[in-house]
Amino acid sequence: MSVFSDSILAWYDAYGRDLPWRRTRDPYAIWLSEIILQQTRIAQGQAYWERFMAAFPDVEALAAAEEDEVLRLWQGLGYYSRARNLHAAARQIAAAGRFPDTLEGIRALKGVGDYTAAAVGSIAFGIPAAVVDGNVYRVLARHFGISTPVGSTAARKEFSALAQSLLPPDRPGDYNQGMMDFGALQCTPASPACLLCPLAKSCAALAAGAVDRLPVKEKGPAVQERRFDYVYVRFRGRTAIRRRGPGDIWTGLYEPLVVDQRLPGVADDGLRLLKAGVRHQLTHRTLLVDFYLWEPDGEPSLPEGYQWIDETELDRYAKPRLFELLLEELPESGRP
Ligand code: ADE
Repeated sequence: MSVFSDSILAWYDAYGRDLPWRRTRDPYAIWLSEIILQQTRIAQGQAYWERFMAAFPDVEALAAAEEDEVLRLWQGLGYYSRARNLHAAARQIAAAGRFPDTLEGIRALKGVGDYTAAAVGSIAFGIPAAVVDGNVYRVLARHFGISTPVGSTAARKEFSALAQSLLPPDRPGDYNQGMMDFGALQCTPASPACLLCPLAKSCAALAAGAVDRLPVKEKGPAVQERRFDYVYVRFRGRTAIRRRGPGDIWTGLYEPLVVDQRLPGVADDGLRLLKAGVRHQLTHRTLLVDFYLWEPDGEPSLPEGYQWIDETELDRYAKPRLFELLLEELPESGRP
């Protein structure tokens, strides 16, 4: 294909990580690994993958499980929407009778984006689709000396096209996983192992002494910081939520009591700090939030726009990720 892809494949054959989902062609096992690895490091994700495979050896078993069972097994990984999507997708697949074997079919599964579709498609079915993520940007930007700031739509197009053109059609899965491992182990962000790099001779960044300046990160708009508290009120098995209006972030999603400065109605009494200093990154702002549980003695009157709901009904309301993070901090006992 090219010197570049041949080197990546040779490197992968010699140094690629030995991971259990690489010893199978079972699309279910591979898809499961990719969903877990979306926001989780391999060191942590591998144990979860093994537990899931033991509990649900095939997609029918996962589809037949209760959602609670799936969520319980997921506990500790965070981003619970991944687990819900995983379960929903298993039901999609079981209903269809087989695992989709086209890129479009895989992409149509809940919780699967471009990256995951390309990963599963190439690894499980040999579909020639290149994955593009931070590792790929970095390796390509350095090796080919590309200074287009990553993060822009133009960069996405440029890097995707280049990655796709380099993909060896006979080993797309190995090439993709080679790029992932090469970026994670060899061409690392901070101190890449250039002295021992098989691509050193052809690396534009190394030749130009620009390894530490590539890839170029786009300076986004200034990130504002916003501070507030999230207060989960619990009174007789109920909690208070409000639907957010338009004009700001999270339109239509539900939130707990939001406190900029201590609300007059929220007494210190029965107020318990669950977690302080939670940093939550949105595109154009950083949220700095403290989570509280408030268990008042008497029924408090609610601020404008709030309603009481049964804690057991919380699942029915769409919530920002930040609210889910708070729910994960609630003491087990009364957890909905
Ligand atoms: N990250 C996401 N998918 C991966 C895979 N298949 N191998 C290694 N790292 C990954």
